[in-house]
Amino acid sequence: MPTMTAALLEPGSNSIALREVSTSAALAPTHVRVAVKASGVCHSDLHVVDGDWPTEEPLILGHEGAGVVTEVGADVSDVRVGDHVVLSWFAPCRRCSDCLQGRAWTCARTRSLDNRLPDGSSPLSGADGQVIAPFLGVGAFAPEVVVGESAVVAIPEQVPHEVAALIGCSVATGVGSVTNTAGVRPGQSAVVVGCGGVGLAAIMGLRLVGAGPIIAVDLSQERLDTAQRFGATHLVRGDVEDLPARVREITGRGADYAFEAIGRAATIEALPDLVAPGGAAVLVGMTAYDTTVRIRPFDLADSAKRILGCNYGSSIAQVDFPRLARAYLAGTLPLDQLIGRRACLEEIDCALEDLRAARGLRTVIIHA
Ligand SMILES: NC(=O)c1ccc[n+]([C@@H]2O[C@H](COP(=O)([O-])OP(=O)(O)OC[C@H]3O[C@@H](n4cnc5c(N)ncnc54)[C@H](O)[C@@H]3O)[C@@H](O)[C@H]2O)c1
Ligand SMILES: [Zn+2]
Ligand SMILES: [Zn+2]
Repeated sequence: MPTMTAALLEPGSNSIALREVSTSAALAPTHVRVAVKASGVCHSDLHVVDGDWPTEEPLILGHEGAGVVTEVGADVSDVRVGDHVVLSWFAPCRRCSDCLQGRAWTCARTRSLDNRLPDGSSPLSGADGQVIAPFLGVGAFAPEVVVGESAVVAIPEQVPHEVAALIGCSVATGVGSVTNTAGVRPGQSAVVVGCGGVGLAAIMGLRLVGAGPIIAVDLSQERLDTAQRFGATHLVRGDVEDLPARVREITGRGADYAFEAIGRAATIEALPDLVAPGGAAVLVGMTAYDTTVRIRPFDLADSAKRILGCNYGSSIAQVDFPRLARAYLAGTLPLDQLIGRRACLEEIDCALEDLRAARGLRTVIIHA
């Protein structure tokens, strides 16, 4: 079996290590082999490293990736060898009633959340033959992945791989939370709490749809300054004394939409108070599995406020990824500006540390 060096997390460990892993030589009929060219470092990888989402088996992390197709299974018709593709970390079955109703992101049969390919297999193993799982069915902190057909989406070759990688998670999620999950309309007001990769993409999405005012909230001045470049009209520090009052000062009765893009209980609990009557709080950030929050149901019912959960920006990868790529090429989504440092796989620890400390913008691992 061919081997490669990949970023592996052992169960119970809080750090990842580069290891030689084997990948399947023969390709199943519905699988696709992709040479990974770039992979973004997302806070969802960090959630696993930090034990928020415990794993019982060794994992190759990385789920925000892009590259070039090198081999396709006999039954694959969506992509061909040589196609430039974005990897999707949610591979829908395309047959269940959710998929058929156009809600791929709630597919009942996906195996992605079990860290498996759609047929339940893993293409990866260790030296002792032990199964190694690809995180979210992708495992993009590696020079190569084998994924199911519904996890690869061809995009125009003019899109640089490092931009394409971001489309595969932070951009699809952030922009999609605005355009798909919330359906924000021109002139509606919004506040985004947390301006990392996902939150900044949400701010770009808000500018794209003509929302306003757009209020960015973060603890990092660097992130706030970037949010302003991407379209935020007002910047507020996350530790301001009375955030709801500040949002009302700017918007009148509160924001039509409030997005939480951190995954912290305290900021989620505070979200409904930022929302105007009739508006919606959109939960984009992911907490640890067992986190609970306290809300005031009276306020929600009395003011007809809604809470919307957002998985993957309510995206259908085959529809939304090419759209996002075209918007980048047209200049309406300057996605290259979301990239912070370019690093090699050997620097993955340092990249995770930067993410933990909110230093710089999105790190992208470039694979030779
Ligand atoms: N819903 C989905 O499908 C989906 C997809 C991708 C990522 N996520 C989740 O979205 C979240 C954000 O991911 P990311 O990669 O953008 O993370 P990130 O670490 O890049 O960004 C988090 C931001 O929150 C800011 N922040 C932290 N505490 C704050 C506070 N108290 N007040 C204001 N700002 C604060 C940080 O400074 C940082 O800028 C994570 O929980 C991730 O798992 C969800
Ligand atoms: Zn992600
Ligand atoms: Zn399905």
